Amino acid sequence: MNVGIIGAGHIGGKIARTLEWTEGVTAIAVGSRSQEKADAFAKEFRIPRSYGSYTALLEDPDVDLVYVATPHSHHFDVTMEAIRKGKACLVEKAFMANARETKAVLDLAKEKGVFVAEAIWTRYQPARDIINRLISYGRIGKVIQISATLSHGVMHLPRVTRPELCGGTLLDIGLYPLNFVRMVCDNPIEKIESQCVLSDEGVDISETISLALEGGVLAVIQSSVCCEGFNTASIAGTEGTIVIDNTNNPKRIKVFAKGGRFIEEIAVPENISGYEYEFWACKDAMEKGLIEPPQMPHSETLFLMELMDSLRKDWGVHYPMD
Ligand SMILES: NC(=O)c1ccc[n+]([C@@H]2O[C@H](COP(=O)([O-])OP(=O)(O)OC[C@H]3O[C@@H](n4cnc5c(N)ncnc54)[C@H](OP(=O)(O)O)[C@@H]3O)[C@@H](O)[C@H]2O)c1
Repeated sequence: MNVGIIGAGHIGGKIARTLEWTEGVTAIAVGSRSQEKADAFAKEFRIPRSYGSYTALLEDPDVDLVYVATPHSHHFDVTMEAIRKGKACLVEKAFMANARETKAVLDLAKEKGVFVAEAIWTRYQPARDIINRLISYGRIGKVIQISATLSHGVMHLPRVTRPELCGGTLLDIGLYPLNFVRMVCDNPIEKIESQCVLSDEGVDISETISLALEGGVLAVIQSSVCCEGFNTASIAGTEGTIVIDNTNNPKRIKVFAKGGRFIEEIAVPENISGYEYEFWACKDAMEKGLIEPPQMPHSETLFLMELMDSLRKDWGVHYPMD
């Protein structure tokens, strides 16, 4: 599968490095708003083709999958253009700025029969299956409490602080603990409460969200872009506890029995960077003729975007495209 990277930036580079080692997947092209930047990026990551506009990359007939790696504010236009041109897309998280954009993209993908997926890497990683199997085998009994934290001190990054780039904690990193909760238990939400700290520019910089899920499951999420957190997650059940380190690229999964007695540590398989799985998932789904990956169905992308819209509304966080 030949990948074209849109946006010669931070995560684009990490992906380019990963794809150098990812079997069956090759970064064939990069598209940037600047030809100079595209050329430099292509040289650094040994990518054969470089384009000085996003449109030029979308017109390359050899690109099988477009990987959209721009700030959240700039996912919509290029993804819509790609789908109209019949190009499959893997779009960085947060998928779009809001649910309205998300719905428009997913509707167009359905209408055109074009594959599109959200690049929320934890959904595609093997740790997810390990955790879900531990639960379904009854190792911790009935799930009662879920807690997930993710905080990184990244206030220096414009994409995080600027409202016009759809900055804020929730869309940038808060969605990882939210996804974690949904992957463990996607029971309907009975009640949601939250606290949030806003920046002077009006984006959410620290937050705590608590969720009451049907079936007596309670979840608590903490996230911030102002500090470096411990970034672990845990699932407590009637018979034991699972502790995951860390929330957005698990390396260690520990199982404890009742009374806190340590049972075992499960090794997560060695990986290149952890990003390779989302590309393999796209390749597999596309080869099967699907327009969405089973690991992150469109309905789930839309559900989480609607949830994040409603949290932002409660907090008074607005983006120009809302
Ligand atoms: N999965 C992960 O672990 C992970 C980690 C970090 C970020 N992300 C996600 O990846 C996406 C990009 O994040 P990033 O850290 O790579 O961002 P970034 O380095 O700030 O920007 C990425 C690229 O977007 C393009 N761009 C287009 N319009 C822009 C504008 N108005 N202002 C700035 N850049 C613009 C630029 O590429 P050109 O100049 O070449 O056009 C820029 O280099 C976001 O959705 C973010 O949430 C994911």
